Amino acid sequence: MYFLAIETSCDDTSVAIFKNEKLLQVKTRTQLVHKNSGGVIPEIASREHSNNIDELIRQIMSEENLTFEDLSVIVVTQGPGLVNSLQIGIIAAKTLSMIYNIPLYTMNHLVGHIYSPFISQQLEMIPEEAIILLASGGHTMLLYKKKFRIKELSNTRDDSVGESFDKVARILELGYPGGKVIDGIYKDYLKDESSVGELPKFKIPLMNSIEFSYSGLKSKVLQEHKKQNYSKDAIAVSFMKTAIDQLVKKTKLILKEAKINNLFIVGGVSANSLLRESFNDVKDLNVFIPEMQFTTDNAAMIGTAFYVKYKNNDIEPSALDVDSIPRMGIGKTNNE
Ligand code: KG4
Ligand code: ZN
Repeated sequence: MYFLAIETSCDDTSVAIFKNEKLLQVKTRTQLVHKNSGGVIPEIASREHSNNIDELIRQIMSEENLTFEDLSVIVVTQGPGLVNSLQIGIIAAKTLSMIYNIPLYTMNHLVGHIYSPFISQQLEMIPEEAIILLASGGHTMLLYKKKFRIKELSNTRDDSVGESFDKVARILELGYPGGKVIDGIYKDYLKDESSVGELPKFKIPLMNSIEFSYSGLKSKVLQEHKKQNYSKDAIAVSFMKTAIDQLVKKTKLILKEAKINNLFIVGGVSANSLLRESFNDVKDLNVFIPEMQFTTDNAAMIGTAFYVKYKNNDIEPSALDVDSIPRMGIGKTNNE
């Protein structure tokens, strides 16, 4: 069967076409208009989605030589995310579903991220049991997965890790999006460690807890920046090391306690170069990380999550009056 997946939860307008589990094509338009403000402006994000969505759907359908009559399913992100952004994807999906009589399904954005390492992979390779580090602009969580049930093990007490990258980049006036820019500075630093000068020392908060915290680290960055004792790049490098170290240490703590040897690392921050290699030293651990192009928000992960559940009879079609759920949690809906 052919199906269309739509993702518009934040600032990426993304559509994907699948033939069963096989991704035929994904088109993602990242909204660059937010560059100047240093963060996503919700009203502008939804306007951009509504300007882009029709064109992206039309393009992908024609490039794949498909008509809407060929589609067996439409799946769209229901939440969590920005209400007006989610709404654009949902309206597009509902409209097509209604006009062409195509069954409509909804997907939890976080569940989409969880399946992002398996886009265009053999679905048999998805382990039944795993620990998941979900690190994005909106979330910093450790989760436990058993088949399709997801349980939250830990969360952040304040900011998310991705948000802290974005805020620190803004404080140091490094540019947007913050994660990628700071990671770039870190990679340059590795080539020549003396180039940034001495590094400030930042502490990992809540060291003996599995809970995360990022707002204190951001405040320390601000203080150091004001004191001007270190270069901006040195502060950025030190920030990144500490931010990633916090993710790694707490994930290792959980892995040890749970005695599970499968780890998924997902969400926008899974693009981070240091994070991607931080578990290489753990013996007998199978690490599943999305390809770089699927680390940040995209419709391919929404389609993959849908298909895995659909194949296993773990998802029901939605009624046409389905609505967005901006604060959708994990483990609390039929998308668990
Ligand atoms: O998953 P995502 O695309 O959107 C949400 O669902 O939140 O994640 C976006 C986040 C941003 O905060 C961005 O700064 C961060 O992912 N990010 C990174 C890197 N690339 C993107 N953080 C650290 N290192 C990176 N290389
Ligand atoms: Zn996301």
